[in-house]
Amino acid sequence: MDSHKKLLLGNKAWVEEKLGVNPRFFEDSATVQRPEFMWIGCSDSRVPAEDVTGAEAGELFVHRNIANLVVHTDFNMLSVLQYAVEVLKVKHVIVCGHYNCGGVRNAMTRYDLGLINKWLRHIKDVYRMNKRELESIADEQLRWDRLVEMNVTEQVQNLAQTSIIQKAWHAEQRPIVHGWVYDLRTGYVKEIACMHPNSQLDDIYMFDFEPDKSGR
Ligand code: CO
Repeated sequence: MDSHKKLLLGNKAWVEEKLGVNPRFFEDSATVQRPEFMWIGCSDSRVPAEDVTGAEAGELFVHRNIANLVVHTDFNMLSVLQYAVEVLKVKHVIVCGHYNCGGVRNAMTRYDLGLINKWLRHIKDVYRMNKRELESIADEQLRWDRLVEMNVTEQVQNLAQTSIIQKAWHAEQRPIVHGWVYDLRTGYVKEIACMHPNSQLDDIYMFDFEPDKSGR
C-alpha cells in the first residue's frame, strides 16, 4: 500500500470514531470555531499540538514553523496572531518549543543550510545574547536544552512586543502569553514563562494607545 493511503484510511477511521461518540460532531463544528487557545509550535512531526495536549478539534488555533519563532516581520505568523486575538478573541497564546529541536541544534552550529540560515539567524541572536550562560554549560545536550528554553522565553517576549498583543492587553485584559517546552523524551510539557496583561516590557517596545499621549 502506498504510504499516503494509510493517512486516507486513518481519516475514515477517525470520522467513524468521532461519529460514534457524537453523531452531530461535524455538523456542530462546521459552522463556527471558538478556540480559547492559540498555539505557536515547531513544525517537527513529533510535536502535534492536539495530541500532546489532549485537545479536541476546535480547541486550538494553530501556527507552526521551524523552531516556533515569533518574527516581527513574518506576515504569516502575524496574520494568524491578529485573527486569533482580534477576531477569535483567544484567552491564551502559547508558544511551545521542544527539547531536541533540530532548528535550535542547527542554529548552534556553523552549518550552511541555504535559505534556512536566514530563519535560524533569529536563534543565533538568542544564543549571542545569552552566550555567557550557554558557554558555561559543558554538556552539549544540556546546552542545547537550555537554548531551547531561552528561545521560547524570547518568543514570549517577541509576542508581548507586538501591538496586537499590547492592544488586547490594554482594551480587554487578555490574552495571557505562555512559554512551554515539550520534552520528547518523557512526553511532558513544562511551563517556563508567562506574561499577563499588566506585564512590564522594556520601555522602547511599549506602544501608547491613548491618542492624546502619542506625542504627535
Ligand atoms: Co523543532
